[in-house]
Formats: sequence, structure tokens, C-alpha cells
Amino acid sequence: MKITNICCIGAGYVGGPTMAVIAKMNPKIKVTIVDINAERIAAWNDEDVSNLPIYEPGLAKIVKETRGKNLFFSTEIDQAISESEMIFISVNTPTKTYGKGKGMAADLKYVELCARNIAEVATTDKIVVEKSTLPVRTAQAIKSILHNTGSEVKFEILSNPEFLAEGTAIEDLLNPDRVLIGGESEAAIESLAKVYGSWVSQDRILRTNIWSSELSKLTANAFLAQRISSINAISELCEHTEANVSEVAKAIGMDSRIGSKFLNASIGFGGSCFQKDILNLVYIARSYGLNAVADYWEQVIILNDHQKRRFSDNLISTLYNTVSGKKIAMLGWAFKKDTNDTRESAAIYVADHLLSEQAHIAVYDPKVSGIKIQSDLNYLNTRTEEENNDLVKAFEDPYKATENSHAIAIMTEWDEFKTYNWGKIYDGMKKPAFIFDGRNILDKTEMETIGFEYSSIGK
Ligand code: UDX
Ligand code: ADP
Repeated sequence: MKITNICCIGAGYVGGPTMAVIAKMNPKIKVTIVDINAERIAAWNDEDVSNLPIYEPGLAKIVKETRGKNLFFSTEIDQAISESEMIFISVNTPTKTYGKGKGMAADLKYVELCARNIAEVATTDKIVVEKSTLPVRTAQAIKSILHNTGSEVKFEILSNPEFLAEGTAIEDLLNPDRVLIGGESEAAIESLAKVYGSWVSQDRILRTNIWSSELSKLTANAFLAQRISSINAISELCEHTEANVSEVAKAIGMDSRIGSKFLNASIGFGGSCFQKDILNLVYIARSYGLNAVADYWEQVIILNDHQKRRFSDNLISTLYNTVSGKKIAMLGWAFKKDTNDTRESAAIYVADHLLSEQAHIAVYDPKVSGIKIQSDLNYLNTRTEEENNDLVKAFEDPYKATENSHAIAIMTEWDEFKTYNWGKIYDGMKKPAFIFDGRNILDKTEMETIGFEYSSIGK
């Protein structure tokens, strides 16, 4: 099938950047991104591209180049489905918060709604591409919904998981390590391979069966998260043995069998994928009765929770066992640098713990608004919204955020934090002035020379 018209359902962190790059690299294909969230679509259509709903380096420039030419954002879902030959499903698949599999399984209701929507509206043959991360065997459910419409329309289902990381999405999309396409129909696979072929060499486009493709996405994220939990486990041991986790990471990373990436000890991984995907893997393994497999992967999450807790426990014990009424300044709220995404950010859990110990929290993040910070905390339901409002304040200036604070906790590795006038910050703080560097981004000697009591992870 020659593709001239693509529809993407879901204008989020995955759908937005991915379709923007597909549109840029395929000027002859019309790409329409649709979403039920009208506010989000309006933000994507904002004339001022600095107001796009997603912050991602390089994204605004591509949207500016392509929007209105061959990239469109719309709430007219049915129309976009009906006009397209290929439909990407990029809706969210959060962990279930109710019923069977609560807290573990992926909630597939949004995916199912999309499949039903496509089934209802389609009058011509379609290739349906799973872009959202889904549990292995989801394609079966989509297939069953699409193939039971009673109409003559033919659907081919492909799995094409996204491997981009937020903060580097555009770079990852432009130069992917690989593009993975799983499916049954060779013709459908080749149609999608051709779309990517505009800028990705064919030897990097991997074709597999659909189940391998679905499972590879979960497995890739589980392996990546496992590396972080592994180095974080070693960080705790370092703190007890005078070993230095950065030195250990460098030493092991130079072994080409291990490799140097993803060995930065931290306050723990966040983001919309790692925890959700591992929970998914664990849930699937348990549902097949594979308890040893499930326990093995679950430990990656247990260790991650432990790392977040350990960070806040250490902060409290260092501040003479109480943070009650003290001002703690948090630098960074996003789950990593160069994104405004806060899903599962370690900062949320550390803040929640400190708030339960009656701390006052001041937050500065270059890309996250105070409203978002409040809604992240309210979502946990630990205390009333009024209490969160009283105890947590967001600032637009890091010097104001840290003024009169007892301690600073660095939660995100934003580059700008390294360039601050730390002497000025020190002068404005209560003494002794503590820094808890959850990202190991500052220089210990320099901070101690200024006068800070500095502690980091794994050193
Ligand atoms: C991840 C995968 O990398 C990506 O391939 C997949 O498509 C989606 O999930 P993402 O969650 O956007 O991407 O970011 P990633 O760079 O993987 O970081 C995840 C978390 O791990 C962040 O909180 C980050 O700070 C943390 N991290 C990462 C560490 O703590 N140490 C590291 O060495 C690397
Ligand atoms: P991701 O990180 O996977 O991209 P997001 O939450 O950022 O997740 O984006 C998913 C988007 O999908 C949201 O904007 C949401 O409104 C949209 N969405 C969810 N269900 C539907 C649906 N049935 N039809 C259209 N859009 C949907």
C-alpha cells in the first residue's frame, strides 16, 4: 500500500515528536495528529511554538517548519481516521488504578477505545500501527475488535514500539539505533519500512514477528532500568566502604561487554516507561505462573523505591533528625533534564516523604509550572490539596527558591544548575548550609570550599 496519508491518535510525548519527524522527513505524506484533549491540540496549534504542550529540544523548530504544510493537529478524530491509509495508536497506557491487576497491569481502555473508533469509522483498508508500549499479545485484542466489525474493510496490525528517550527525542528519532517493526503481513511491514526509509537505512529497520516486537519494548526498558538499579545498589555499598560510585561506574563501563551508558547513580529512575513497563512484565510473568521470573524483575522496582526513600531518610537524619518547619529547596522536578515531563519523577516521592515530616518545600524547575507540581502531589492523595498548597511553593528564580533554606536537594540534572553562583546561594541560606546532590552534578571540593555541607550519591 502506498502511504500518502497518516493519522496518529494521541498527541502526547510519543505521538507529537514522532509524527513531527515523520512529517519532516516525508514532505509528500500528510500527517494528522488527533487527540480527544482539545486544550492540548490548541496548544500544539499555538502560533507561538514556545507554548507547545511538550518541551523537547529541537521539536518547536520542526513543528514550525511542517505545521500547516503536511503536519496537522486536530480534534476531528473520525475524519482523520477515515482519510488515512495508516493509523498510529499513540495513546497512554497507564498502570491500572482499579480492579484486577491494579497497580501492576497496563490499563488498555484507551487503546481499546481507539480500536473501536477505527472499526466504526473505517470504510477503506487500513494499516494500524501500535506505537504505545503495550503488553505482549495486545495486538490480538486489537485484531479481534477490528476484525469483528462485519464490514469488508481489511486491517493489518503492526507493532512499531518507540525507543526515543525524552529530552533527546528528536535526536533519537533522527538517528535511531534501530527501528523495530513486528507484523504478519510482509506488505504492511514494507509500507511502514518505506516511511522510515526516507531517513533510516534499511539495515537498521528490523522486521520481526509481532509478539517479539511487543516483548522487545518491555525487555529493552527492563534492561535499561535494571542497569540503574544495579548501579544504585552499588552506590549504597560505596557509601559504606569509601569506594566512589563514579569511579566504579567508569571502571566497569570500560569493559566493552558492560558498556559505559546508563551507569549514573541517582535518586532513582522516573518517567512514564520504566516502572510501568517492568510492572507489566512482572504481571504478565505472574499470569503465566512464572513466579521466579516475576520476582527477579520486580526487584528492580523495589530497589528503585529504596533508593528514593534512602535519599530522603539521609536528608532528614543529616538535618538533626527533623525537617519539621524547615525550608528545603528542591532544584528540579522533572524526571530528567531537558523535558517538562514529571511522570513518576523521584522528586514527587521525595517531596511527599519530606512533607509528611512537616517540611516546607520550595521548588524551582526551569520547565515545570507550579500548577503541575501541585497536581503531582495532589494525585498521591497523601494530604489535602490545601495542605499541599500551604507547604509547597514554586519559584521562577533559583536564588529566591533557595533563600533562607536549610538545605538544597538536587532532583534533576539540569545543566544550568552547574553554572549558578553557588557562593551567592550559600550566603542566602541558613547555616550550616546543606546540599544533597541527588544527581552527582556538583563538584564536592568546590562546594566544601564555599562552606557547604555537601553529600552526594555513592561517595
Ligand atoms: C526510556 C527509554 O530510555 C526509552 O528508550 C523508551 O522509549 C522510554 O523509556 P525515558 O523514560 O524518556 O526513556 O528516559 P531515560 O533517559 O531512559 O531515563 C529514565 C530515568 O532513568 C530518568 O529518571 C533518568 O534520570 C534515570 N537515569 C537514567 C538514571 O538515574 N541513571 C542513568 O544512568 C540513566
Ligand atoms: P505518551 O507519553 O505515551 O505519549 P501522553 O499521555 O503524553 O502519553 O499522550 C497520550 C495522549 O493520548 C493524550 O494526549 C490523550 O488525551 C490521548 N488519548 C487518549 N485516549 C484517546 C482516544 N481514545 N482518542 C484520542 N486521543 C486519546
